[in-house]
Amino acid sequence: MTVRRVNVVILVLLVVAFLIILHRNLLNLNDFLKQENPDTAPGMVLPFETDFLSDHKVIRSGDEIPVLITAPEERLGAAVTAMNSIHRNSKANVVFNIVTLNESVVHLRTWLSKTDMKHKIIVFDPKILAGKISKDPQKAETAKPLTFARFFLPVFLPDAEKAIYLDDDVIIQGDIRELFDTSLKLGHAAAFSEDCDSASSKGIVKGAGNQNSYIGFLDFKKEAIKKLGMRANTCSFNPGVFVANLTEWKQQNITSQLELWMERNAKEDLYSKTLADSITTPPMLIVFYKHHSNIDPMWHVRHLGATGAGNRYSPQFVKAAKLLHWNGHYKPWGRAASFSEIWDKWYIPDPTGKFHPIRRHTEEK
Ligand SMILES: *[C@@H]1O[C@H](CO)[C@@H](O)[C@H](O)[C@H]1NC(C)=O
Ligand SMILES: *[C@@H]1O[C@H](CO)[C@@H](O)[C@H](O)[C@H]1NC(C)=O
Ligand SMILES: *[C@@H]1O[C@H](CO)[C@@H](O)[C@H](O)[C@H]1NC(C)=O
Repeated sequence: MTVRRVNVVILVLLVVAFLIILHRNLLNLNDFLKQENPDTAPGMVLPFETDFLSDHKVIRSGDEIPVLITAPEERLGAAVTAMNSIHRNSKANVVFNIVTLNESVVHLRTWLSKTDMKHKIIVFDPKILAGKISKDPQKAETAKPLTFARFFLPVFLPDAEKAIYLDDDVIIQGDIRELFDTSLKLGHAAAFSEDCDSASSKGIVKGAGNQNSYIGFLDFKKEAIKKLGMRANTCSFNPGVFVANLTEWKQQNITSQLELWMERNAKEDLYSKTLADSITTPPMLIVFYKHHSNIDPMWHVRHLGATGAGNRYSPQFVKAAKLLHWNGHYKPWGRAASFSEIWDKWYIPDPTGKFHPIRRHTEEK
């Protein structure tokens, strides 16, 4: 009896051992087949090579798309992050023209040498603004000469016919070629996004006056403004994102016109006293009054830097936006911004360690 039991146990063990050996041989055969037929296993690249390849597989061809962006020293990380979001979301042949001050050139060059973004660094000489900005030390923007770089677009891009200007506090989620393909009406030098008919205007900066019409930016009591015959309730536009036809810009002397209004304001104080937005907006509103094309509202979803921005937009809407703009006080690299996790996705750490996004230790829900 016991002998027969032992035999049964031995038999079972033999069968199990046989099955294990058979299984292992089948696995080896499987590997063998895979190696013979590499076409059937397309993902078989070593892990450390995958990243490398995906970055270089993008073939960038076709006409150059010139993008102009500014990079002040204290927020170089903003420009680099915005650029990376453009680069990663498009196969277009984008050339970044980064306007910065002399003091930041080395820092910026070091940072960008870690990337494969095609770029030119342009040094801005603040002397170009002499006599054109008010010396009032209380106006903080006097100290931010780079905000005026957009006025000199054809000076920085002498060979371009069409170009895109972007503020540095943006993230692009769509293909930049779509924005570049915005068609401008004949005779128009630029296309902007208007403040009252876009999805972004809902619940606009409460308590900040009429920041969606001309009266919020210009002092309509001043003779120089009255004489222009503009309607005070005309919808304003945001000059933080625009597409320009530089042939038209040059023909219409847009730069000289903008400079003229800067000079006049320095003498006559023509801008609204409650101006909450950028000091570069009023001269642009005058020069492009009823004379500009429009960009798709989803290509300029803004006010993400305003108080309560987190409640204004649903996560679905923010996801669908092609371009997000954190205009307002709360920047996405700062502490209290909404949707900063989107910005973080595109951030490339500063190799010199000078720039750090400020983050809470724990996520707030
Ligand atoms: C620009 O900065 C470099 C050092 O970063 C300095 O050597 C050079 O003199 C500066 N040029 C001007 C015009 O300030
Ligand atoms: C720019 O404007 C010029 C002059 O009006 C026009 O001939 C040209 O087609 C425009 N270019 C683009 C890309 O819209
Ligand atoms: C632009 O400036 C040039 C030379 O300064 C002048 O000849 C031309 O009439 C101006 N054009 C416009 C539209 O003001």
